[in-house]
Amino acid sequence: MLIRYKKSLEKIAMGLLSFMPEEKDVKKLQHTIREYEDNENWQLYLWKENDDVLGAIGVEINQGDANVIIQHITVNPSHRKQGIGHKMIDEIRVIYGENYQVIANDLTESFIKKC
Ligand SMILES: CC(C)(COP(=O)(O)OP(=O)(O)OC[C@H]1O[C@@H](n2cnc3c(N)ncnc32)[C@H](O)[C@@H]1OP(=O)(O)O)[C@@H](O)C(=O)NCCC(=O)NCCS
Repeated sequence: MLIRYKKSLEKIAMGLLSFMPEEKDVKKLQHTIREYEDNENWQLYLWKENDDVLGAIGVEINQGDANVIIQHITVNPSHRKQGIGHKMIDEIRVIYGENYQVIANDLTESFIKKC
């Protein structure tokens, strides 16, 4: 299930986000996590199974354009190809799909097209 990011999960969230190709630099990663903490239009969710956090998906909500952009999607390498990526997208569509069009950006497009 998806849970909302909270500060106590910062380290695990940063570890997961660091698998995104453009988030390898620590300064960039810290800036990204601050944005998810401070900007109410940026929302980060974590995928939790039993007590383990195995994935992360982050979105930007654009009220004006009525869309939600999937900015980050990442799964722990030991748990890939088990459908977690697809399930995270499905849950984001359930959360936002009624009021917003859920779309990708350049960084997430190739996987989201697959879903
Ligand atoms: C992309 C990612 C989140 C997929 O998570 P996952 O839980 O393994 O995804 P699922 O199990 O739901 O789906 C697996 C399928 O997606 C495909 N896939 C994985 N990464 C992909 C990518 N970047 N573009 C397109 N397809 C991709 C797999 O090849 C697999 O295909 P198959 O079903 O035909 O074998 C994961 O590979 C990851 O964390 N990658 C590193 C971070 C990243 O690059 N994110 C941006 C992706 S555009």
